[in-house]
Formats: sequence, C-alpha cells, structure tokens
Amino acid sequence: MQKRIISTLCSVGLLFVSQSMMATENNEQQLKQEAISIVQKFGGTLKPQLQDAMKGAGPVHAISVCSEAAPAIAQKLSKDTGWSVNRVSLKARNNRTAMPDAWEKRVLEQFDQRQAAGESAEKMAFAEIVDGKYRFMKAQGVEKVCLNCHAAEIKPEVEAALKQHYPQDMARGYSEGQIRGAFSVSKEVF
Ligand code: HEC
Repeated sequence: MQKRIISTLCSVGLLFVSQSMMATENNEQQLKQEAISIVQKFGGTLKPQLQDAMKGAGPVHAISVCSEAAPAIAQKLSKDTGWSVNRVSLKARNNRTAMPDAWEKRVLEQFDQRQAAGESAEKMAFAEIVDGKYRFMKAQGVEKVCLNCHAAEIKPEVEAALKQHYPQDMARGYSEGQIRGAFSVSKEVF
C-alpha cells in the first residue's frame, strides 16, 4: 500500500517535472520566434533604406543614412517590443553601440569559427538563457554591397566620410561571406 502511494506520488511528481520542462521548451520556442521577428524587422527596415540611399545619392550619403537610421530603428524596436535590441561586432564601427559584452564576444567568435568551417551566415544564429535573460544573436554576413563601406579598399570620399563620423572605426578589411557582426536581442525571463 505504502509502495503504491509512493509510486503514485512519484508519477505525479514526474508529470509535474515533465510538464514544466515542456512549458519551458514551449516558452523558449515562443521567445525564439519573437526574437527572429524582431531581427527580421530590423534588417527589413534598414536594408531597403541603405539600398535606396546607395542607388540614389551614393555611398557617402548612405553613411549618414546608416548612422542615423540604424540606431533609430534599434531604439524604436526596443521601445515597441520591450526587448533590448542592438547590433554588435568584433570590429565595431559605432563604438558607442556596437561593442560586444563578454557573452556576445564569445558568440561572435563562435560565428567566425562556424563560418570558417563552411557554414553560411544566412541562417547562423545562437540562443541561450543567461542570468535570467533570454538572449538571441543572428549573424550578419558580408554581401557585395557591404564592401563599399566595409572592405579594405574603398573610395577615398567614402573613407573620408567614415573618418569624419567614426574616427575610431574598426569595421574595415572584410571580404564577401565573412561575418560582419550580428543582431543581438534579449529579454528578461525571470
Ligand atoms: C554606405 C556605407 C555602408 C554600407 C554599404 C554598409 N554599411 Fe554597415 N555600417 C555603416 C555605418 C555608417 C555603420 C555604423 C552605423 C551606426 O552608427 O549604428 C555600420 C554598421 C554596421 C553594423 C553594426 C556594427 C558596427 O560595427 O557598428 C553591422 C553589423 C553592419 N554595418 C553590417 C553591414 C552589412 C552586413 C552590410 C551589407 C549588407 C553593410 N553593413 C553595408 C556603413 C555601411
């Protein structure tokens, strides 16, 4: 009799444990979906603005679009969603917003290793719960258009404009396919 009670209690206990594990998994799945949709909004708003500016007035003008539009989009998305939204890089251009913290640095280093091992940036991402926060990063790969402002060799007028806006710019010397940086979003979960 006692055995049965104990075994029933155990099964009920197990049920609770597995239910709460499932709840955590569902929750993480949902957080991931949210994170992906924020990143898609960020990229989907910034890229057309960059492309229009490049086609219209050219890369020098596009630099000022980038320097105003990118932080503005990040701020608006943070405000609208309650997530912290940012872009980071191991070689930051904007040294006020894009310097990675220790966790982001590790993930960016792993992205570089994954890219060197042959993985494309297109779907490269990483998620983890750290210190009560759900954190998600999505790699941004270098495409042809990016080389106008992130390659080693760029037009002198582009170089001059970059120097003026970002005297401490480190975001140069990239080639196509490399990891330029990443979107980094996080939300408190506890
Ligand atoms: C017209 C020049 C220009 C082009 C083209 C360009 N960028 Fe940038 N990029 C910038 C500027 C300016 C910043 C700094 C924006 C800011 O102040 O937030 C920047 C910042 C970034 C950042 C944020 C991290 C950091 O270093 O500040 C990433 C990531 C990035 N660019 C990726 C790309 C990718 C990927 C492409 C191609 C799809 C691209 N860029 C094309 C000018 C450019």
